[in-house]
Amino acid sequence: MTAAALAAALAAVLIAAAGGRAHAGQPPSISPKANYIERCGGCHGVDGRSVAALVPDLKHTAGYFLCDEEARAYVARLPNVAFSQINDADLAAMLNFVVLDLGARDGPPQPGAAAPRPYTAAEVGRLRRTALTIPDLKAYRQRIVGRLVARCAAPDRLLTDYQGPPTPSP
Ligand code: HEC
Repeated sequence: MTAAALAAALAAVLIAAAGGRAHAGQPPSISPKANYIERCGGCHGVDGRSVAALVPDLKHTAGYFLCDEEARAYVARLPNVAFSQINDADLAAMLNFVVLDLGARDGPPQPGAAAPRPYTAAEVGRLRRTALTIPDLKAYRQRIVGRLVARCAAPDRLLTDYQGPPTPSP
């Protein structure tokens, strides 16, 4: 190999190595689904179902939260979501996996219904800054899901399954 060829080969290796380290210092980017499983699956279940009385099911129900502005904001403002240790873009991608894929309604789309609008990184970034810190999250949720059942054809189980945190025994 000539010196010039050697230099060229070395340069190619260095460029490849630099490319591989382009995101050094940042956590490796993983898929929205893998992020969900890692950060949310412990409570909500890998496939969006766990113990519905203690943690709401997401499978075929989370998508209904896109029905109105307060409901879509509720999802991004939930403390477990808002304080998740990922950046706005990754969080938006993960939430879109949750509402458009995992939580998509079962069956054909509602006739006349507008296509669901995905979350953007900017929207999630804005919403997570006002994370919900209200003491009675369950009452707040019940009001929202009551509306989703009444106005957005969401299934009744959204209202009936989740019982909230267990009340401490006296
Ligand atoms: C420690 C358990 C826990 C973890 C971790 C958790 N959640 Fe939740 N999640 C809950 C509970 C409990 C609720 C019901 C509202 C409340 O009391 O917080 C909820 C509500 C929700 C809802 C609204 C569904 C409904 O029917 O109210 C969505 C969507 C959701 N979580 C998504 C996520 C995502 C995405 C993550 C991961 C970033 C996550 N959750 C992590 C426990 C958890």
